[in-house]
Amino acid sequence: MEIGRGPEGILSQEMTQKREEIVELLKTAYFMELETVMNYVSESINPDGVRAQQIKEDLNEDIPEELGHARQLGARIKELYGVVPGSMDFDAGQQLLQPADHQTDVVHVIKGVIDAESKAIEHYTRIIEATEDSDPVTNDMTVAILHDEQGHRRRFEGYLKEYIAEGKASKSDLPLSSQATSPEEGSAL
Ligand SMILES: [Fe+2]
Ligand SMILES: [Fe+2]
Repeated sequence: MEIGRGPEGILSQEMTQKREEIVELLKTAYFMELETVMNYVSESINPDGVRAQQIKEDLNEDIPEELGHARQLGARIKELYGVVPGSMDFDAGQQLLQPADHQTDVVHVIKGVIDAESKAIEHYTRIIEATEDSDPVTNDMTVAILHDEQGHRRRFEGYLKEYIAEGKASKSDLPLSSQATSPEEGSAL
């Protein structure tokens, strides 16, 4: 049990400091989700070509889900007596998810998505650890969101594996845990 835990758990006066720490983590997650929405919108439109079609449709379908995550995080920030931030507090971070130089470069988009989802997975894992003993509600919500992000990343790992087999992407672009079950580079040729 958390030291200083009051009768109302995370909403107790004694838990103010912990609550503020959790709110900061949730604000970061909130902005990460909205940046993901921004970049999924652009990459559901920008890419050209037959093979880009599936990626664009996938990203299009993920947009409402990521926006839903942002909404859930915002609501939880408020429940914990925080204030949902406005855009002036926003710092962008998804460098790899910027538009490619050539719009037929689907591998660029797939790598950008895997990177963004990996960072989300890391951040949600951090929130789960931070709330483990103190805030079961935020913990539960974050576990569900983490599950969604793991699913998103796994789907795009699958797309990348196809390009690895063709020699158009490298195994090292995959998360370490995924490399063991991926094809050798150029093995489909
Ligand atoms: Fe998300
Ligand atoms: Fe996601």
